[in-house]
Amino acid sequence: MGRLKELRNYINSEIGKIDDVDERTAATVHLYGVSLAAVILAKKRGLNEELAAMAAMLHDLYAYKTASYDNHAHKGAELAGNVLKELALTNNEETEIICSAIYHHDDKNTVDSPMEELLKDADVISHTMNDPSKPIKEKEQDRYNNICKEFEFI
Ligand SMILES: [Fe+2]
Ligand SMILES: [Fe+2]
Repeated sequence: MGRLKELRNYINSEIGKIDDVDERTAATVHLYGVSLAAVILAKKRGLNEELAAMAAMLHDLYAYKTASYDNHAHKGAELAGNVLKELALTNNEETEIICSAIYHHDDKNTVDSPMEELLKDADVISHTMNDPSKPIKEKEQDRYNNICKEFEFI
């Protein structure tokens, strides 16, 4: 089994522990949606697709597990580090890349490393494109515009 599949199996079982069915669905849709967007962005930007997908699968797990978005990026990076250590799927350098992307993913107004930017943009793609009828939040408008330019949608 590939390591992305192994990580997904773990995350599926964690999501399965969420009591509320709508929250379970939301968690699955968002984590898999961001993961797909992350691979597309990684292909476009020449970054590691597998690490991008793994970071995306883990990026909001803390928030879904605790039902709280309080400092969820920083706490989520710590959780991701523990999960990756337990599953032994990554070396130290890969774990650091994944955890750093998760740590910074809520800093949408700053520009960080390419993999950190990739996760922020993949998150914005999920927020803005999962339901095109929903208005785009002001804080995500600039990133959304830049993504549309990058893919020559506008
Ligand atoms: Fe998040
Ligand atoms: Fe997210």
